[in-house]
Amino acid sequence: MSTFNQDLEQIKNNFEQEFEKASSQTDFENLKNKYLGRKGSLAEVMKKIGSVPASERGAAGKLANEVKTSMTAKISQKSGGESGDGQGFFDLTEPGKAQKMGHPHPYTLVRDEVTDIFRSMGFEVLDGEEVTTDYYCFESLNIPKGHPARDAWDTFYIKQQRKKNEDLVLRTHTSSMQVAVMEEEEPPLRKVVIGRCFRNEATDASHEHSFNQIEGFVVDENISVANLVSTLKQFLQALFKAEMEVRLRPGFFPFVEPGYELDFKCLNCKGEGCKVCKHSGWVEFLGCGMIHPKVLNFAGYPKGKYTGYAFGMGFDRITMMKYKIDDIRLFNGGDLRFIHQF
Ligand code: PHE
Repeated sequence: MSTFNQDLEQIKNNFEQEFEKASSQTDFENLKNKYLGRKGSLAEVMKKIGSVPASERGAAGKLANEVKTSMTAKISQKSGGESGDGQGFFDLTEPGKAQKMGHPHPYTLVRDEVTDIFRSMGFEVLDGEEVTTDYYCFESLNIPKGHPARDAWDTFYIKQQRKKNEDLVLRTHTSSMQVAVMEEEEPPLRKVVIGRCFRNEATDASHEHSFNQIEGFVVDENISVANLVSTLKQFLQALFKAEMEVRLRPGFFPFVEPGYELDFKCLNCKGEGCKVCKHSGWVEFLGCGMIHPKVLNFAGYPKGKYTGYAFGMGFDRITMMKYKIDDIRLFNGGDLRFIHQF
């Protein structure tokens, strides 16, 4: 071994011994000066590299560098990092980095509000299954295979066999929970289902392939259209915090009879006619009606014993109305400039 290497070895050992004993910031600072400083031991021994035979000089230089790197690392670890001032100074008064807090999506805000309103009216709120069967989504709702209404509710079919050899579908409406719930429970039922639905749909400002619905249904003895209207009116008043006027128009849904469309008088123009209500004075709000006897039959309830009502509304529409959002695609578009407004 050349004397250069021996000197290096010696310096390394000495450093290590002293490093073990060092404890204060001053000790580390002194060590740094003594070994790594401009006139430190390492610098001194480097002066002798010229005397190392040319064939060994490369390896000797490399070794010297390794020793230097390891010493530097050890000292900087103890003295608050390489860029530190060597005193391990930590400025407690320096302002921290602000944490970005999340916040609820507008859907979540409205869902929570709607949930509270319906709970206060004695409804149980469910989310239900997004993947269901052809039976619950269509068949049990009086929409048999080949029925033209299937076109309006076209969805995504999953070719997968489950019990009863049935195809699975992504639910096209929350009505798919009606018979599924009724099979499990006897009336009186007061249920609200809130959740995601899917449609085979060309997307535009008011249509999305995935959207959300709120379904409500009540089954008991002697339930009437009057119960339906008063419940929906109360719901609207609680949601929009205003006196509301509603009206029914005939509407067709295979799973209700009679079926209606419920409108409310435009809040924006008080019925005068404006852009919001397409100059009609009324805003189309939801589909509803008295649950079709066939549906109650599918549920296995005794014939003629119970009646019930059901309604289904676009949850996205309510959110858009409440926050004056004009494009449904913004909800899931991932644009933070939109989302951070809520
Ligand atoms: N499920 C219907 C739809 O998606 C809405 C509806 C629900 C209508 C319940 C009547 C009764 O359009």
